[in-house]
Amino acid sequence: MRVLGIETSCDETGVALYDTEAGLLAHALHSQVAMHAEYGGVVPELASRDHIRRLLPLLRRVQAEAGVGLGDIGAIAYTRGPGLAGALLVGASFASALAAALGVPALGIHHLEGHLLSPLLATPRPAFGSGITPASGHEPSPKLRFPYVALLVSGGHTQLMRVDGVGRYALLGETVDDAAGEAFDKTAQVLGLGYPGGPAVARLAEQGDAYRFKLPRPMLQSHDLDFSFAGLKTAALTLARKEGLPLPPAGGGDPERLRRDRLQAAADIAAGFQEAVVEVLAAKCLAALRQTGLERLVVAGGVGANRRLRDRLDAEARQKRFEVYYPPLELCTDNGAMIAYAGALRLAEARGAGGAFGVRPRWDLGSLGAPA
Ligand code: KG4
Ligand code: ZN
Repeated sequence: MRVLGIETSCDETGVALYDTEAGLLAHALHSQVAMHAEYGGVVPELASRDHIRRLLPLLRRVQAEAGVGLGDIGAIAYTRGPGLAGALLVGASFASALAAALGVPALGIHHLEGHLLSPLLATPRPAFGSGITPASGHEPSPKLRFPYVALLVSGGHTQLMRVDGVGRYALLGETVDDAAGEAFDKTAQVLGLGYPGGPAVARLAEQGDAYRFKLPRPMLQSHDLDFSFAGLKTAALTLARKEGLPLPPAGGGDPERLRRDRLQAAADIAAGFQEAVVEVLAAKCLAALRQTGLERLVVAGGVGANRRLRDRLDAEARQKRFEVYYPPLELCTDNGAMIAYAGALRLAEARGAGGAFGVRPRWDLGSLGAPA
């Protein structure tokens, strides 16, 4: 069966076509990052309007790439929540209207379930049975199967979950304040880097000394699986101000040497901040594996694209003999493929699953049941 996936929860419009036999046929993404950049964050009303503009052209594009006509679509999965209400409504309305016109089921998917299951997307033989060939360029992860521990790190979430199957999720720990991605974004702002901050901080960190400044490792010794990033973010902010950051615009009258010193300080703060986040995330992942006795770790969400985090977890995995899985880089951040895939898994386990029209801007993943 061909499942169309629609993602519009925040600032990416994602559309994908997934085939339960052949795997991911095509996926297309439009990022609104450039549009929101001048405001320093996502403007909800602009996001909704842009989703309206983008959905149809993206659908046409994936259809052409996959060679799939509208009549070949067997179900439509869309992000029902959590996310921005207006943005969600655009995707939900589009998906529901198209599903009604085609006479196929529309399935409202939990956005985080999409992230949680996305590393299985490249698996040739997923847990539910039918053989799946990964789309070209997608590394297969043939050994990944339930149960596993998942670290979900995005701009809105930092959670450790135990995943026993589709819809069987138990929260192990979460952030008590800011999400890790949010802390990356705010640190980028105080360093004078653009939005979104994660990739920019990571790039600048490559030229920095992670140990020049002493930055806190919040809740590293808390003996639970919770996180806190607000204090670390504030420490980076205080340090940045002390070092005269963000830099005044070019030609601000600073002597060249002072400018160079400040640029180096920015790189050192970026590296120190990244190292602190990575250290805490890695330590809590290890603790979650110990506590659950599980040997597989999945890292999902935008911050999961961070190279330093991946290197650190890979090294720990080799040493402590557990397995770690990531979605392909392009599927780490929001996308339609993970929504189509979660929809396909739910359909496979609960024939005819439907659901009334609606969105859930706030939605607890733990309250999500397994397919009936
Ligand atoms: O999952 P995602 O696309 O959107 C949601 O928040 O749901 O994640 C976006 C977040 C942003 O905060 C962004 O700064 C962060 O992921 N991010 C990164 C990297 N790439 C994206 N953070 C650190 N390192 C990266 N390479
Ligand atoms: Zn996301």
